[in-house]
Amino acid sequence: MTPIRLLFVSNSDSKSAWKQRLGALDSSIEVRLWPDAGTLDEIEAALVWKPPAGLMAKLTRLKLILSLGMGVDHIFADPLLPKHVPIARLIDPDLINRMSEYCALAVLRYHRSADTYDAFQREHRWKALANEPAAASRRVGILGMGEIGRDLAGKLAPFGFRLAGWSRSPKRMPGIEGFHGAAGFKPFLARSEIVVCLLPLTPETEGILNAEAFAALPKGAVVVNAARGGHVVEADLIAALDRGHLSAAQLDVFRQEPLPKDHPFWAHPKIRITPHNAGVTNPDTAAAQVVENLRRVRAGEKLLNIVDPARGY
Ligand code: NDP
Ligand code: OXD
Repeated sequence: MTPIRLLFVSNSDSKSAWKQRLGALDSSIEVRLWPDAGTLDEIEAALVWKPPAGLMAKLTRLKLILSLGMGVDHIFADPLLPKHVPIARLIDPDLINRMSEYCALAVLRYHRSADTYDAFQREHRWKALANEPAAASRRVGILGMGEIGRDLAGKLAPFGFRLAGWSRSPKRMPGIEGFHGAAGFKPFLARSEIVVCLLPLTPETEGILNAEAFAALPKGAVVVNAARGGHVVEADLIAALDRGHLSAAQLDVFRQEPLPKDHPFWAHPKIRITPHNAGVTNPDTAAAQVVENLRRVRAGEKLLNIVDPARGY
Protein backbone atom coordinates (compact mmCIF):
# COMPACT_ATOMS: atom_id res chain seq x y z
CA MET A 1 0.00 0.00 0.00
CA THR A 2 1.30 3.50 -0.82
CA PRO A 3 2.40 5.14 2.46
CA ILE A 4 0.25 7.96 3.82
CA ARG A 5 1.31 10.69 6.25
CA LEU A 6 -1.22 11.31 8.99
CA LEU A 7 -1.05 14.24 11.39
CA PHE A 8 -2.44 13.42 14.86
CA VAL A 9 -3.65 16.52 16.73
CA SER A 10 -5.13 16.23 20.23
CA ASN A 11 -4.37 17.39 23.73
CA SER A 12 -6.80 14.98 25.30
CA ASP A 13 -6.36 11.64 23.50
CA SER A 14 -3.35 9.38 24.10
CA LYS A 15 -0.82 10.03 21.32
CA SER A 16 1.16 6.89 22.10
CA ALA A 17 -1.92 4.61 22.24
CA TRP A 18 -3.20 5.92 18.90
CA LYS A 19 0.20 5.74 17.22
CA GLN A 20 0.71 2.19 18.44
CA ARG A 21 -2.78 1.05 17.43
CA LEU A 22 -2.70 2.63 13.96
CA GLY A 23 0.78 1.25 13.30
CA ALA A 24 -0.30 -2.23 14.39
CA LEU A 25 -3.25 -2.16 11.99
CA ASP A 26 -1.45 -0.66 8.99
CA SER A 27 2.31 -0.13 8.86
CA SER A 28 1.98 2.07 5.75
CA ILE A 29 0.50 4.90 7.90
CA GLU A 30 3.21 7.32 9.00
CA VAL A 31 1.81 9.01 12.12
CA ARG A 32 3.18 12.44 12.96
CA LEU A 33 2.29 13.86 16.35
CA TRP A 34 1.46 17.56 16.38
CA PRO A 35 3.36 19.84 16.99
CA ASP A 36 6.18 17.63 15.59
CA ALA A 37 4.59 17.60 12.17
CA GLY A 38 7.71 17.86 9.99
CA THR A 39 7.08 19.47 6.59
CA LEU A 40 3.38 20.43 6.56
CA ASP A 41 3.12 20.05 2.77
CA GLU A 42 3.69 16.30 3.15
CA ILE A 43 0.61 15.68 5.34
CA GLU A 44 -2.26 13.99 3.49
CA ALA A 45 -4.69 13.27 6.32
CA ALA A 46 -5.32 14.64 9.82
CA LEU A 47 -6.86 12.85 12.81
CA VAL A 48 -7.94 15.62 15.16
CA TRP A 49 -9.67 16.76 18.33
CA LYS A 50 -10.02 20.55 18.64
CA PRO A 51 -7.28 21.39 16.12
CA PRO A 52 -5.78 24.91 16.43
CA ALA A 53 -7.55 27.43 14.18
CA GLY A 54 -5.80 27.77 10.83
CA LEU A 55 -3.76 24.56 11.09
CA MET A 56 -5.84 22.55 8.58
CA ALA A 57 -5.53 25.40 6.03
CA LYS A 58 -1.74 25.13 6.22
CA LEU A 59 -1.83 21.45 5.14
CA THR A 60 -1.79 22.08 1.39
CA ARG A 61 -1.99 18.40 0.35
CA LEU A 62 -4.70 17.47 2.85
CA LYS A 63 -7.23 14.96 1.45
CA LEU A 64 -9.19 13.98 4.57
CA ILE A 65 -9.89 15.27 8.08
CA LEU A 66 -10.92 12.61 10.60
CA SER A 67 -12.57 13.53 13.91
CA LEU A 68 -11.34 11.77 17.04
CA GLY A 69 -14.91 11.95 18.30
CA MET A 70 -18.46 11.46 17.07
CA GLY A 71 -19.00 15.22 17.07
CA VAL A 72 -17.40 17.51 14.47
CA ASP A 73 -18.26 20.96 15.88
CA HIS A 74 -14.64 21.18 17.14
CA ILE A 75 -13.51 21.04 13.48
CA PHE A 76 -16.14 23.38 12.02
CA ALA A 77 -15.21 25.91 14.74
CA ASP A 78 -12.09 26.78 12.69
CA PRO A 79 -12.96 29.85 10.60
CA LEU A 80 -10.13 29.03 8.16
CA LEU A 81 -11.16 25.40 7.63
CA PRO A 82 -10.49 24.41 3.98
CA LYS A 83 -13.92 23.83 2.40
CA HIS A 84 -12.83 21.24 -0.19
CA VAL A 85 -11.49 18.65 2.30
CA PRO A 86 -14.03 15.98 3.38
CA ILE A 87 -14.57 15.44 7.11
CA ALA A 88 -15.23 11.99 8.56
CA ARG A 89 -16.51 11.40 12.07
CA LEU A 90 -16.26 8.34 14.27
CA ILE A 91 -19.29 6.12 14.64
CA ASP A 92 -18.00 3.74 17.24
CA PRO A 93 -20.21 1.13 18.99
CA ASP A 94 -18.08 1.31 22.15
CA LEU A 95 -18.49 5.08 22.37
CA ILE A 96 -22.21 4.84 21.61
CA ASN A 97 -22.63 2.23 24.35
CA ARG A 98 -20.78 4.39 26.89
CA MET A 99 -22.98 7.37 26.01
CA SER A 100 -26.12 5.30 26.45
CA GLU A 101 -24.86 3.97 29.80
CA TYR A 102 -24.27 7.53 30.99
CA CYS A 103 -27.67 8.80 29.89
CA ALA A 104 -29.55 5.72 31.11
CA LEU A 105 -27.89 6.07 34.51
CA ALA A 106 -29.03 9.70 34.69
CA VAL A 107 -32.59 8.82 33.63
CA LEU A 108 -32.81 6.02 36.19
CA ARG A 109 -31.29 8.17 38.96
CA TYR A 110 -33.94 10.86 38.52
CA HIS A 111 -36.76 8.41 37.84
CA ARG A 112 -35.98 6.66 41.15
CA SER A 113 -35.38 9.93 43.11
CA ALA A 114 -31.81 8.91 43.92
CA ASP A 115 -30.83 12.44 45.02
CA THR A 116 -33.67 12.50 47.55
CA TYR A 117 -32.70 9.10 48.98
CA ASP A 118 -29.03 10.21 49.14
CA ALA A 119 -30.17 13.20 51.20
CA PHE A 120 -32.33 10.97 53.45
CA GLN A 121 -29.33 8.72 54.06
CA ARG A 122 -27.15 11.68 55.06
CA GLU A 123 -29.86 12.52 57.64
CA HIS A 124 -30.12 8.86 58.81
CA ARG A 125 -33.77 9.10 57.81
CA TRP A 126 -35.76 5.93 56.99
CA LYS A 127 -38.41 7.25 54.63
CA ALA A 128 -40.01 6.08 51.40
CA LEU A 129 -41.55 8.64 49.05
CA ALA A 130 -45.24 8.19 48.39
CA ASN A 131 -46.62 7.60 44.88
CA GLU A 132 -43.35 7.06 43.05
CA PRO A 133 -44.35 6.78 39.38
CA ALA A 134 -43.93 3.57 37.43
CA ALA A 135 -41.71 3.67 34.34
CA ALA A 136 -44.86 3.22 32.26
CA SER A 137 -46.01 6.68 33.31
CA ARG A 138 -42.57 8.38 33.20
CA ARG A 139 -42.17 10.53 30.08
CA VAL A 140 -38.58 10.60 28.85
CA GLY A 141 -37.64 12.71 25.82
CA ILE A 142 -34.50 12.41 23.72
CA LEU A 143 -33.32 15.45 21.75
CA GLY A 144 -31.47 14.03 18.72
CA MET A 145 -32.42 10.61 17.37
CA GLY A 146 -29.09 9.89 15.69
CA GLU A 147 -26.63 7.11 16.42
CA ILE A 148 -26.62 7.73 20.17
CA GLY A 149 -30.22 8.85 20.65
CA ARG A 150 -31.57 5.75 18.91
CA ASP A 151 -29.27 3.48 20.89
CA LEU A 152 -30.36 5.09 24.16
CA ALA A 153 -34.02 4.73 23.22
CA GLY A 154 -33.44 1.04 22.50
CA LYS A 155 -31.79 0.57 25.89
CA LEU A 156 -34.45 2.48 27.85
CA ALA A 157 -37.40 0.82 26.10
CA PRO A 158 -37.28 -2.47 28.07
CA PHE A 159 -37.87 -0.54 31.31
CA GLY A 160 -41.21 0.54 29.87
CA PHE A 161 -40.65 4.33 29.86
CA ARG A 162 -42.89 6.50 27.70
CA LEU A 163 -40.29 7.56 25.17
CA ALA A 164 -40.25 10.38 22.65
CA GLY A 165 -37.57 11.63 20.29
CA TRP A 166 -36.99 14.92 18.49
CA SER A 167 -35.04 15.13 15.24
CA ARG A 168 -34.71 17.34 12.20
CA SER A 169 -36.44 14.95 9.82
CA PRO A 170 -39.51 12.83 10.67
CA LYS A 171 -38.80 9.33 11.99
CA ARG A 172 -40.91 6.23 12.50
CA MET A 173 -39.64 4.34 15.53
CA PRO A 174 -41.74 1.57 17.05
CA GLY A 175 -42.83 2.48 20.58
CA ILE A 176 -41.33 5.98 20.41
CA GLU A 177 -43.38 9.10 19.86
CA GLY A 178 -41.66 11.07 17.12
CA PHE A 179 -41.44 14.87 16.97
CA HIS A 180 -39.44 16.83 14.43
CA GLY A 181 -38.46 20.29 13.30
CA ALA A 182 -39.20 23.66 14.84
CA ALA A 183 -42.94 22.91 15.02
CA GLY A 184 -42.35 19.73 17.01
CA PHE A 185 -39.93 21.23 19.54
CA LYS A 186 -42.28 22.71 22.14
CA PRO A 187 -44.85 19.87 22.00
CA PHE A 188 -41.91 17.47 22.53
CA LEU A 189 -40.66 19.47 25.51
CA ALA A 190 -44.14 19.85 27.01
CA ARG A 191 -44.49 16.05 27.36
CA SER A 192 -40.91 15.35 28.60
CA GLU A 193 -40.32 15.06 32.35
CA ILE A 194 -36.72 13.95 31.80
CA VAL A 195 -35.10 15.38 28.69
CA VAL A 196 -31.76 14.08 27.41
CA CYS A 197 -29.83 16.23 24.92
CA LEU A 198 -27.93 14.23 22.28
CA LEU A 199 -27.91 16.81 19.49
CA PRO A 200 -24.88 17.83 17.46
CA LEU A 201 -23.78 21.43 18.08
CA THR A 202 -24.56 23.45 14.95
CA PRO A 203 -25.63 27.04 14.31
CA GLU A 204 -29.24 25.77 14.55
CA THR A 205 -28.83 24.01 17.90
CA GLU A 206 -26.52 26.52 19.64
CA GLY A 207 -28.30 27.78 22.78
CA ILE A 208 -31.35 25.59 22.13
CA LEU A 209 -31.68 24.81 25.84
CA ASN A 210 -32.63 28.33 26.88
CA ALA A 211 -35.22 30.07 29.08
CA GLU A 212 -38.00 29.52 26.54
CA ALA A 213 -37.21 25.82 26.20
CA PHE A 214 -37.00 25.34 29.98
CA ALA A 215 -40.35 27.11 30.42
CA ALA A 216 -41.88 24.69 27.89
CA LEU A 217 -40.85 21.68 30.00
CA PRO A 218 -43.27 20.49 32.70
CA LYS A 219 -42.66 21.81 36.20
CA GLY A 220 -40.15 19.64 38.03
CA ALA A 221 -38.48 18.43 34.81
CA VAL A 222 -34.89 17.24 34.70
CA VAL A 223 -32.35 18.14 32.00
CA VAL A 224 -29.51 15.82 31.04
CA ASN A 225 -26.92 17.26 28.65
CA ALA A 226 -24.34 14.83 27.29
CA ALA A 227 -23.99 16.56 23.91
CA ARG A 228 -22.21 19.92 23.96
CA GLY A 229 -22.00 22.80 26.43
CA GLY A 230 -22.99 25.22 23.67
CA HIS A 231 -26.51 23.81 23.67
CA VAL A 232 -27.20 25.29 27.11
CA VAL A 233 -27.66 28.97 27.98
CA GLU A 234 -26.04 28.61 31.38
CA ALA A 235 -27.64 31.60 33.14
CA ASP A 236 -31.08 30.44 31.93
CA LEU A 237 -30.48 26.96 33.35
CA ILE A 238 -29.49 28.33 36.74
CA ALA A 239 -32.52 30.64 36.77
CA ALA A 240 -34.90 27.78 35.87
CA LEU A 241 -33.42 25.59 38.64
CA ASP A 242 -33.45 28.40 41.20
CA ARG A 243 -37.09 29.28 40.65
CA GLY A 244 -37.98 25.60 41.05
CA HIS A 245 -39.30 25.08 37.52
CA LEU A 246 -36.60 22.50 36.82
CA SER A 247 -35.71 20.09 39.60
CA ALA A 248 -32.23 18.98 38.50
CA ALA A 249 -29.63 18.95 35.75
CA GLN A 250 -26.96 16.41 34.91
CA LEU A 251 -24.21 17.94 32.77
CA ASP A 252 -21.22 16.29 31.10
CA VAL A 253 -20.30 19.12 28.72
CA PHE A 254 -19.74 22.84 29.18
CA ARG A 255 -19.16 26.00 27.18
CA GLN A 256 -15.71 26.23 28.73
CA GLU A 257 -13.86 22.98 29.41
CA PRO A 258 -12.39 22.26 31.89
CA LEU A 259 -15.18 23.97 33.80
CA PRO A 260 -13.53 26.94 35.56
CA LYS A 261 -13.04 26.37 39.30
CA ASP A 262 -15.21 29.37 40.20
CA HIS A 263 -18.09 28.43 37.87
CA PRO A 264 -21.49 28.54 39.66
CA PHE A 265 -22.42 25.06 38.35
CA TRP A 266 -19.88 23.39 40.67
CA ALA A 267 -21.61 24.31 43.91
CA HIS A 268 -25.21 24.31 42.66
CA PRO A 269 -27.24 21.87 44.79
CA LYS A 270 -29.38 20.77 41.83
CA ILE A 271 -26.56 20.24 39.31
CA ARG A 272 -24.57 17.07 38.93
CA ILE A 273 -21.33 17.39 36.93
CA THR A 274 -19.04 14.99 35.09
CA PRO A 275 -15.88 16.03 33.20
CA HIS A 276 -16.89 15.38 29.55
CA ASN A 277 -16.34 11.68 29.97
CA ALA A 278 -19.80 10.33 29.13
CA GLY A 279 -18.27 8.77 26.04
CA VAL A 280 -14.53 8.52 25.71
CA THR A 281 -12.94 7.51 22.40
CA ASN A 282 -11.14 4.20 22.71
CA PRO A 283 -8.41 3.63 20.07
CA ASP A 284 -8.81 -0.14 20.48
CA THR A 285 -12.31 0.05 19.03
CA ALA A 286 -12.13 3.22 16.93
CA ALA A 287 -8.80 2.91 15.08
CA ALA A 288 -9.97 0.31 12.53
CA GLN A 289 -12.42 2.72 10.87
CA VAL A 290 -9.71 5.40 10.68
CA VAL A 291 -7.41 2.89 8.97
CA GLU A 292 -10.18 1.87 6.59
CA ASN A 293 -10.87 5.49 5.63
CA LEU A 294 -7.15 6.07 5.05
CA ARG A 295 -7.14 3.03 2.75
CA ARG A 296 -10.19 4.32 0.91
CA VAL A 297 -8.81 7.82 0.43
CA ARG A 298 -5.70 6.34 -1.19
CA ALA A 299 -7.75 3.95 -3.33
CA GLY A 300 -10.12 6.75 -4.37
CA GLU A 301 -13.07 4.81 -2.89
CA LYS A 302 -16.19 6.19 -1.17
CA LEU A 303 -15.28 7.36 2.35
CA LEU A 304 -17.07 6.26 5.52
CA ASN A 305 -19.03 8.48 7.93
CA ILE A 306 -18.56 11.72 5.99
CA VAL A 307 -20.44 14.66 7.50
CA ASP A 308 -22.44 17.23 5.58
CA PRO A 309 -20.83 20.68 5.96
CA ALA A 310 -24.12 22.37 5.06
CA ARG A 311 -25.91 20.68 8.02
CA GLY A 312 -22.85 20.86 10.27
CA TYR A 313 -23.16 17.21 11.40
P1 NDP B 1 -25.98 12.05 14.85
O1 NDP B 1 -25.39 12.99 13.87
O2 NDP B 1 -25.97 10.59 14.56
O3 NDP B 1 -27.50 12.45 15.13
C1 NDP B 1 -27.88 13.75 15.36
C2 NDP B 1 -29.38 13.81 15.63
O4 NDP B 1 -29.73 15.15 15.95
C3 NDP B 1 -30.21 13.40 14.42
O5 NDP B 1 -31.35 12.70 14.81
C4 NDP B 1 -30.59 14.75 13.82
O6 NDP B 1 -31.79 14.75 13.07
C5 NDP B 1 -30.76 15.58 15.06
N1 NDP B 1 -30.61 16.99 14.76
C6 NDP B 1 -29.53 17.66 14.28
N2 NDP B 1 -29.80 18.95 14.08
C7 NDP B 1 -31.10 19.12 14.45
C8 NDP B 1 -31.96 20.22 14.45
N3 NDP B 1 -31.57 21.44 14.05
N4 NDP B 1 -33.23 20.04 14.86
C9 NDP B 1 -33.67 18.81 15.25
N5 NDP B 1 -32.87 17.70 15.28
C10 NDP B 1 -31.62 17.86 14.88
O7 NDP B 1 -25.29 12.36 16.24
P2 NDP B 1 -24.71 11.32 17.31
O8 NDP B 1 -25.85 10.60 17.92
O9 NDP B 1 -23.61 10.53 16.72
O10 NDP B 1 -24.03 12.31 18.37
C11 NDP B 1 -24.70 13.41 18.94
C12 NDP B 1 -23.72 14.31 19.65
O11 NDP B 1 -23.31 13.73 20.88
C13 NDP B 1 -22.39 14.56 18.93
O12 NDP B 1 -22.53 15.52 17.91
C14 NDP B 1 -21.51 15.05 20.05
O13 NDP B 1 -21.58 16.45 20.17
C15 NDP B 1 -22.12 14.41 21.29
N6 NDP B 1 -21.20 13.45 21.92
C16 NDP B 1 -20.78 13.68 23.21
C17 NDP B 1 -19.95 12.80 23.84
C18 NDP B 1 -19.55 13.01 25.27
O14 NDP B 1 -18.61 12.38 25.74
N7 NDP B 1 -20.23 13.83 26.02
C19 NDP B 1 -19.43 11.60 23.15
C20 NDP B 1 -19.96 11.43 21.81
C21 NDP B 1 -20.80 12.34 21.23
P3 NDP B 1 -31.94 13.88 11.72
O15 NDP B 1 -31.98 12.44 12.19
O16 NDP B 1 -33.22 14.31 11.14
O17 NDP B 1 -30.73 14.18 10.89
C1 OXD C 1 -17.34 13.11 20.90
C2 OXD C 1 -17.00 13.49 22.28
O1 OXD C 1 -17.84 13.93 20.14
O2 OXD C 1 -16.29 12.70 22.95
O3 OXD C 1 -17.09 11.94 20.55
O4 OXD C 1 -17.44 14.52 22.77
